[in-house]
Amino acid sequence: MTTHLHITTWLLGLILFFAAVSLFNSGKMKPFTIVHMITRVFYLLILATGVQLFIAGYNLSKGEYFGKLFLGLVIIVLMELILVRTKKRKPVRTLWIIFVIALILVIYMGLRLPLGFHPFA
Ligand code: HEM
Repeated sequence: MTTHLHITTWLLGLILFFAAVSLFNSGKMKPFTIVHMITRVFYLLILATGVQLFIAGYNLSKGEYFGKLFLGLVIIVLMELILVRTKKRKPVRTLWIIFVIALILVIYMGLRLPLGFHPFA
């Protein structure tokens, strides 16, 4: 159950994040601000479901679950940094590269760990 909620929240969170970036790029500032705010609510939902899974799985493999928690936090920080820096028109190229790598790692790691789906275990 929590697995499905977690997947739903991070998928919607990512979709909102990409929507915000493209709204900014097409100059739609007001919709960008609104979508950015909703994205922030999703950070909390992703965190809440992630922490629930962490508590459920922690004893199965402590190190890996800490790794997953850390990577999940990194992704959220990167999403927020990218949105804020994009808004301020500051360089975001390096952040995007780290974001893509961290996203692949976090999805791979989530799918390797024992709860929910584990095609890479
Ligand atoms: C955008 C950010 C995130 C993405 C893309 C992501 C991705 C995933 C994926 C693909 C899974 C596997 C689901 C399954 O078992 O079928 C998963 C599980 C999990 N996630 Fe996340 N996650 C994110 C954020 C977080 C955060 C912030 C935390 C911790 C606070 C977290 C903690 C966990 C835990 C503990 C699991 C259970 C691992 C298991 O399957 O045993 N995740 N996540």
